[in-house]
Amino acid sequence: MSEFDFTSTAVVGLQWGDEGKGKIVDWLTAEHDCIVRYNGGANAGHTVVVGSDRYALHLIPSGILSGHKTCIIGNGVVIDPFKLIEEIESLESRGIAIGDRLLISDRAHVVMPYHKEQDTVLEEALARSSGMDRSIGTTRRGIGPAYSDKVLRATAIRMGDLLDRNVLRQKLSVICPVRNAQLASMGSESTFDAEILTEQYAAIGDRLRSNITDTVYLLHDMVQEGRSILFEGANACLLDVDFGTYPYVTSSNCSTLGIPAGTGLPGSTIKRVIGIMKAYSTRVGGGPFPTELHDVEGDRIREAGNEYGTTAGRPRRCGWLDLVAVRYSAMVCGVDSIACTLFDVLQGFKRLKLCTAYRLPDGTTTDRFLPSAEQLATVEPVYEEFQGWNTDMNTIGSRQELPSQAREYLGRIEEFVGVPIDIVSIGPERTQVLADTTGAGSR
Ligand code: GDP
Ligand code: IMO
Ligand code: MG
Repeated sequence: MSEFDFTSTAVVGLQWGDEGKGKIVDWLTAEHDCIVRYNGGANAGHTVVVGSDRYALHLIPSGILSGHKTCIIGNGVVIDPFKLIEEIESLESRGIAIGDRLLISDRAHVVMPYHKEQDTVLEEALARSSGMDRSIGTTRRGIGPAYSDKVLRATAIRMGDLLDRNVLRQKLSVICPVRNAQLASMGSESTFDAEILTEQYAAIGDRLRSNITDTVYLLHDMVQEGRSILFEGANACLLDVDFGTYPYVTSSNCSTLGIPAGTGLPGSTIKRVIGIMKAYSTRVGGGPFPTELHDVEGDRIREAGNEYGTTAGRPRRCGWLDLVAVRYSAMVCGVDSIACTLFDVLQGFKRLKLCTAYRLPDGTTTDRFLPSAEQLATVEPVYEEFQGWNTDMNTIGSRQELPSQAREYLGRIEEFVGVPIDIVSIGPERTQVLADTTGAGSR
C-alpha cells in the first residue's frame, strides 16, 4: 500500500508558474496509472531531477519518466508537433522508451509556424506602442495565436487533421493567404505556403499516426476500469486566462477549472487537488507582482533558487510569498492540500516576510486578490515578519525535525490559506521530499 491512498489527483500551480509541478508530478506518478496534460503547450517547462540526470519537459507529461505509465496530451493542449518530435527524440536518446505509451488527442490544436511569427510580431509591436512597453512577455511559442484560432474555428488545425493530407491541404489553402495578409499588415516579411506546410505537417502526422487518437473515450474507459489519473497542470492559476492577472496571463485555463474542458472528463473524476506553491514568489514576463523584490534579497532568492527559466532561460522576477494570491488560487482551484517547494532556498535568511494583505492607494487594506492588473499594480504588500533559520535541509528527515522557525513559517501559511501543507520539497532531486499525510483529506 502506498503512502497516499487515493485515486485521481490534480496537480496545479498556485502562483505564476515554475512552482516545481514537474517534480511533484514525477513523485506522485508511482501512485497513478495515467498522467494527463490538459492545458498550455510548449510554453511550459517542467524540470525533473533523477540522481544526476535532469529532464526538461515541455509538452510530454512528466510521468513519462516512470518507464511504464500511460501519458496523454489532452484536447486542451496546443501542440507544436515539431517540438513534440524533438522532445520524444531527446527522451528516447536518453533511454526513455515512449512508443505507444504517449497518446495525443486528435482534438488538440496545432501550433503552426505562423502562430509563432504572430506571437513575435505582436509582442514587438506592443513593446514599442505609445512609448511604453505593453508586451506580455510571452514565451513566443505561438500559444496565444494558436488558442485564438481554436476559438475562431475556421482558421484552426487540429492534430486529427494532420492524418488526412487532403483535409490539411484544403484548410491551409484557406488559412495561408489570410494569415500572410494579416502578417504583412503588421510589418512581417514572413510568408507561408499552403503546399509546403501541407507536406511538412502531413509527414509529421504520418510519424505520429499511432499516437494520435480519441483520448476522450480512452480516458473514460480508464476511469470505468478503476484506473487512477494524475492531471498535470501547466502554467499556473495566476496565469489562467479567466482567473489570472489578465491580460498578463497565458491563453488557457491553467487552473483546475480547465481540467474537464481540457480532457473530456467531468470534474467529479478529480478526487484530490494538490496545489504547488513555492516558499516564495516568482514571475516571468510582464504584469503586476505586488511582493516583487528589486534588492539584494531578491537577487539572493534568484541565485539560491536558480530562478532562470526552463523554457527560455530568462531570469525570473523574485519576491516574498504572497499569501493573498495563494489563498485566492487555492480557493479557485479547490485545493485540498499544498506542496511547498523550494523550501531549502529560504535557509540562511535572517528574516522572512509573508504578505497577508494589500494596502490600496486610498490607505485601506484588503486581504482579497484583485481582478484588474491595473489595480493590482498599485497595491503595497502588508507583511508579517518571521525569523529565519540556518539548518541544512539535507539533515532533515521529517517535517517534525524542521527548526521551530521553519515550522512557524509553514504553520502561518496553513493557517492563513486554510489548507494543510502535506508535502515540503527541500531540493530538486526526486527523493528530496518531506511528506506528511496526517492532515491530508481526499474527497
Ligand atoms: P514547473 O514548471 O512548475 O515544473 O517548475 P520548473 O521546473 O520550471 O521550475 C522549478 C525549478 O526548481 C526546477 O529547476 C526544479 O528542478 C527546481 N526544484 C523543484 N523543487 C525544488 C526544491 O524543493 N528545491 C530546490 N532547490 N529546487 C527545486
Ligand atoms: P510552467 O508550466 C512561467 C508566462 C510567460 C508570459 C505569459 C504568457 O513551466 O510553470 P505565453 O507564451 O503562454 O503566451 O506567455 O505566461 N508563462 C509562464 N511562466 N511558467 C510557465 O509554465 C509559463 N507559461 C507561460 O512568461 O508572462
Ligand atoms: Mg516551468
